Amino acid sequence: MARAFLSRQSMNTHKPIKKAVFPVAGLGTRFLPATKAIPKELLPVIDRPLIQYAVDEAREAGIEQMIFVTGRGKTAIVENFDIAFELESTMAERGKDMSVLEPTRFTPGNLITVRQQVPLGLGHAIWCARAIVGDDPFAILLPDELMVGKPGCMKQMVDAYNEVGGNLISVLEVPQDKVSSYGVIAPGATLDMLDGTLTEVKGLVEKPPVDQAPSNKIISGRYILQPAVMRTLEGQEKGAGGEIQLTDAMARMIGEQPFHAVTFGGKRYDCGSKTGFVEATLAIALEREDMGTEVRAIAERLLAK
Ligand code: G1P
Repeated sequence: MARAFLSRQSMNTHKPIKKAVFPVAGLGTRFLPATKAIPKELLPVIDRPLIQYAVDEAREAGIEQMIFVTGRGKTAIVENFDIAFELESTMAERGKDMSVLEPTRFTPGNLITVRQQVPLGLGHAIWCARAIVGDDPFAILLPDELMVGKPGCMKQMVDAYNEVGGNLISVLEVPQDKVSSYGVIAPGATLDMLDGTLTEVKGLVEKPPVDQAPSNKIISGRYILQPAVMRTLEGQEKGAGGEIQLTDAMARMIGEQPFHAVTFGGKRYDCGSKTGFVEATLAIALEREDMGTEVRAIAERLLAK
């Protein structure tokens, strides 16, 4: 009882999460030639661009202001969230259903872009958004990681943040031989208030060699961070891969600020890889009411060959 009371009380003391940063400046070389003229984030998973899934996830979590860290050749991402006057007036004249465009609508002023001029790493991309983030805690969503669940991953994290405050990252377990592609946590105590899904983070290491990884729990592309991370990033040296790593900056904040990991209860698809992209497309198609049955029949027919 006392714990429930305390946690309910603490809900009011944490500044709400209203801003999210989406690093979308990457070159998308793994998907060439598809991404020569089209940003990777606009590749469709069925009929929605990849970025739309991340924006929807942020909105579900109550986030209002979306900050895109873009680069050269990425303006089409912003176009996707603008009003397409000719398209829309023609559709209206022809009496077409306009509701399909609803997820692309933005309250004026709530979509902000900043440029990352040189690809110096994820930490550098986030730092490019410092003036817009200001003094507020904020979320980060890496659109390559497609998270599907009810509630969504960011909503689950915001709920946890409302309990414990501080900094949170989403984690999931991967086979030990895969850890060196990710940021890895050194886990501490598991808190019981969220069905064992909240773990204390005692250390963080970016892309460790398999035999030096502190666990097989990897950072899966969702973060809630305090604005102090921007000051930490300011003096951040290059890390793994010669890039300025967000993980290294976060690691330096452990001990000074609360740090927890949320194990997401839903599904995660790695759309940064071609097979992950295919998996996401198939899995989501199978779940969709408008096509699930038909896609299942197609898949079964193909597999029977
Ligand atoms: C980034 C992060 C890493 C995280 C991963 C999730 O790595 O640096 O900590 O685990 O995203 O996708 P990247 O995929 O940019 O190499």
